[in-house]
Amino acid sequence: MSPADILIDCQDAALTFGRGPNAVVAVHGAGLRIRAGDRLAIVGRSGSGKSSLLHLLAGLEQPTSGTVTWPGLTGPRDIGLVFQGDSLIPALDVVENTALPLVLTGIPDDRARAAALAALALVDAAELADRLPEEISGGQAQRVTAARVLAQAPRVILADEPTGRLDHATGSRVLDALLTAADETGAALVITTHDPTVAARLTARRAMRDGRLASADDADTDRADADTAHSLGEPS
Ligand SMILES: Nc1ncnc2c1ncn2[C@@H]1O[C@H](COP(=O)(O)OP(=O)(O)OP(=O)(O)O)[C@@H](O)[C@H]1O
Ligand SMILES: [Mg+2]
Repeated sequence: MSPADILIDCQDAALTFGRGPNAVVAVHGAGLRIRAGDRLAIVGRSGSGKSSLLHLLAGLEQPTSGTVTWPGLTGPRDIGLVFQGDSLIPALDVVENTALPLVLTGIPDDRARAAALAALALVDAAELADRLPEEISGGQAQRVTAARVLAQAPRVILADEPTGRLDHATGSRVLDALLTAADETGAALVITTHDPTVAARLTARRAMRDGRLASADDADTDRADADTAHSLGEPS
């Protein structure tokens, strides 16, 4: 396997917020390699460091120690991040928000708009196209955030609890859309979740506990004690 097969190489990367007595170690030296075609779930409870780890992988945060590099990518720009929280621009309507990353890379408005509408349809959100972010629900905003990444067709999709605010059927549909898009484009897909049935739909699982990313074999322990009340879909 050549180094270029590794899209993201995270070596002993740590992330600490604050300093001194108030310092919070969100991620302790995490080692992780993402390759094309990977379908990885990062499973852990609230506050375990999942979002912090994804932000390191996406280049949004600089590791406090260790390294994150993108040997098989042009850089973090080849990565699409489905944010956990609100990330839509209030002054733009849903289709403009979805098309924005494409417009910013120089794709003409009409083509970007067509791609955005197609991506919105994949998450059953096409009918929201003309609404402003303040006029849609939290779960609808989460689907639009997923559509914004699907429209980009990035080489790596990092999705931060993409089903966290959705009912079972809708969450399952969004997961289907992410998996199908990754299959069609050959992208790697990394999803964070606290839901074992979401994790079961990916091919590999890594548990995160108190900022520590466990080895692959450890993930099932975490799945067993995770909350199944919000389970989604069927394990494949
Ligand atoms: N900007 C920040 N400043 C200080 N501490 C932070 C910051 N962001 C996160 N933390 C802390 O880092 C730890 C990990 O947070 P993180 O958001 O990565 O967890 P998570 O697993 O994504 O949780 P959730 O499932 O609730 O989204 C937590 O203790 C959190 O309070
Ligand atoms: Mg999080």
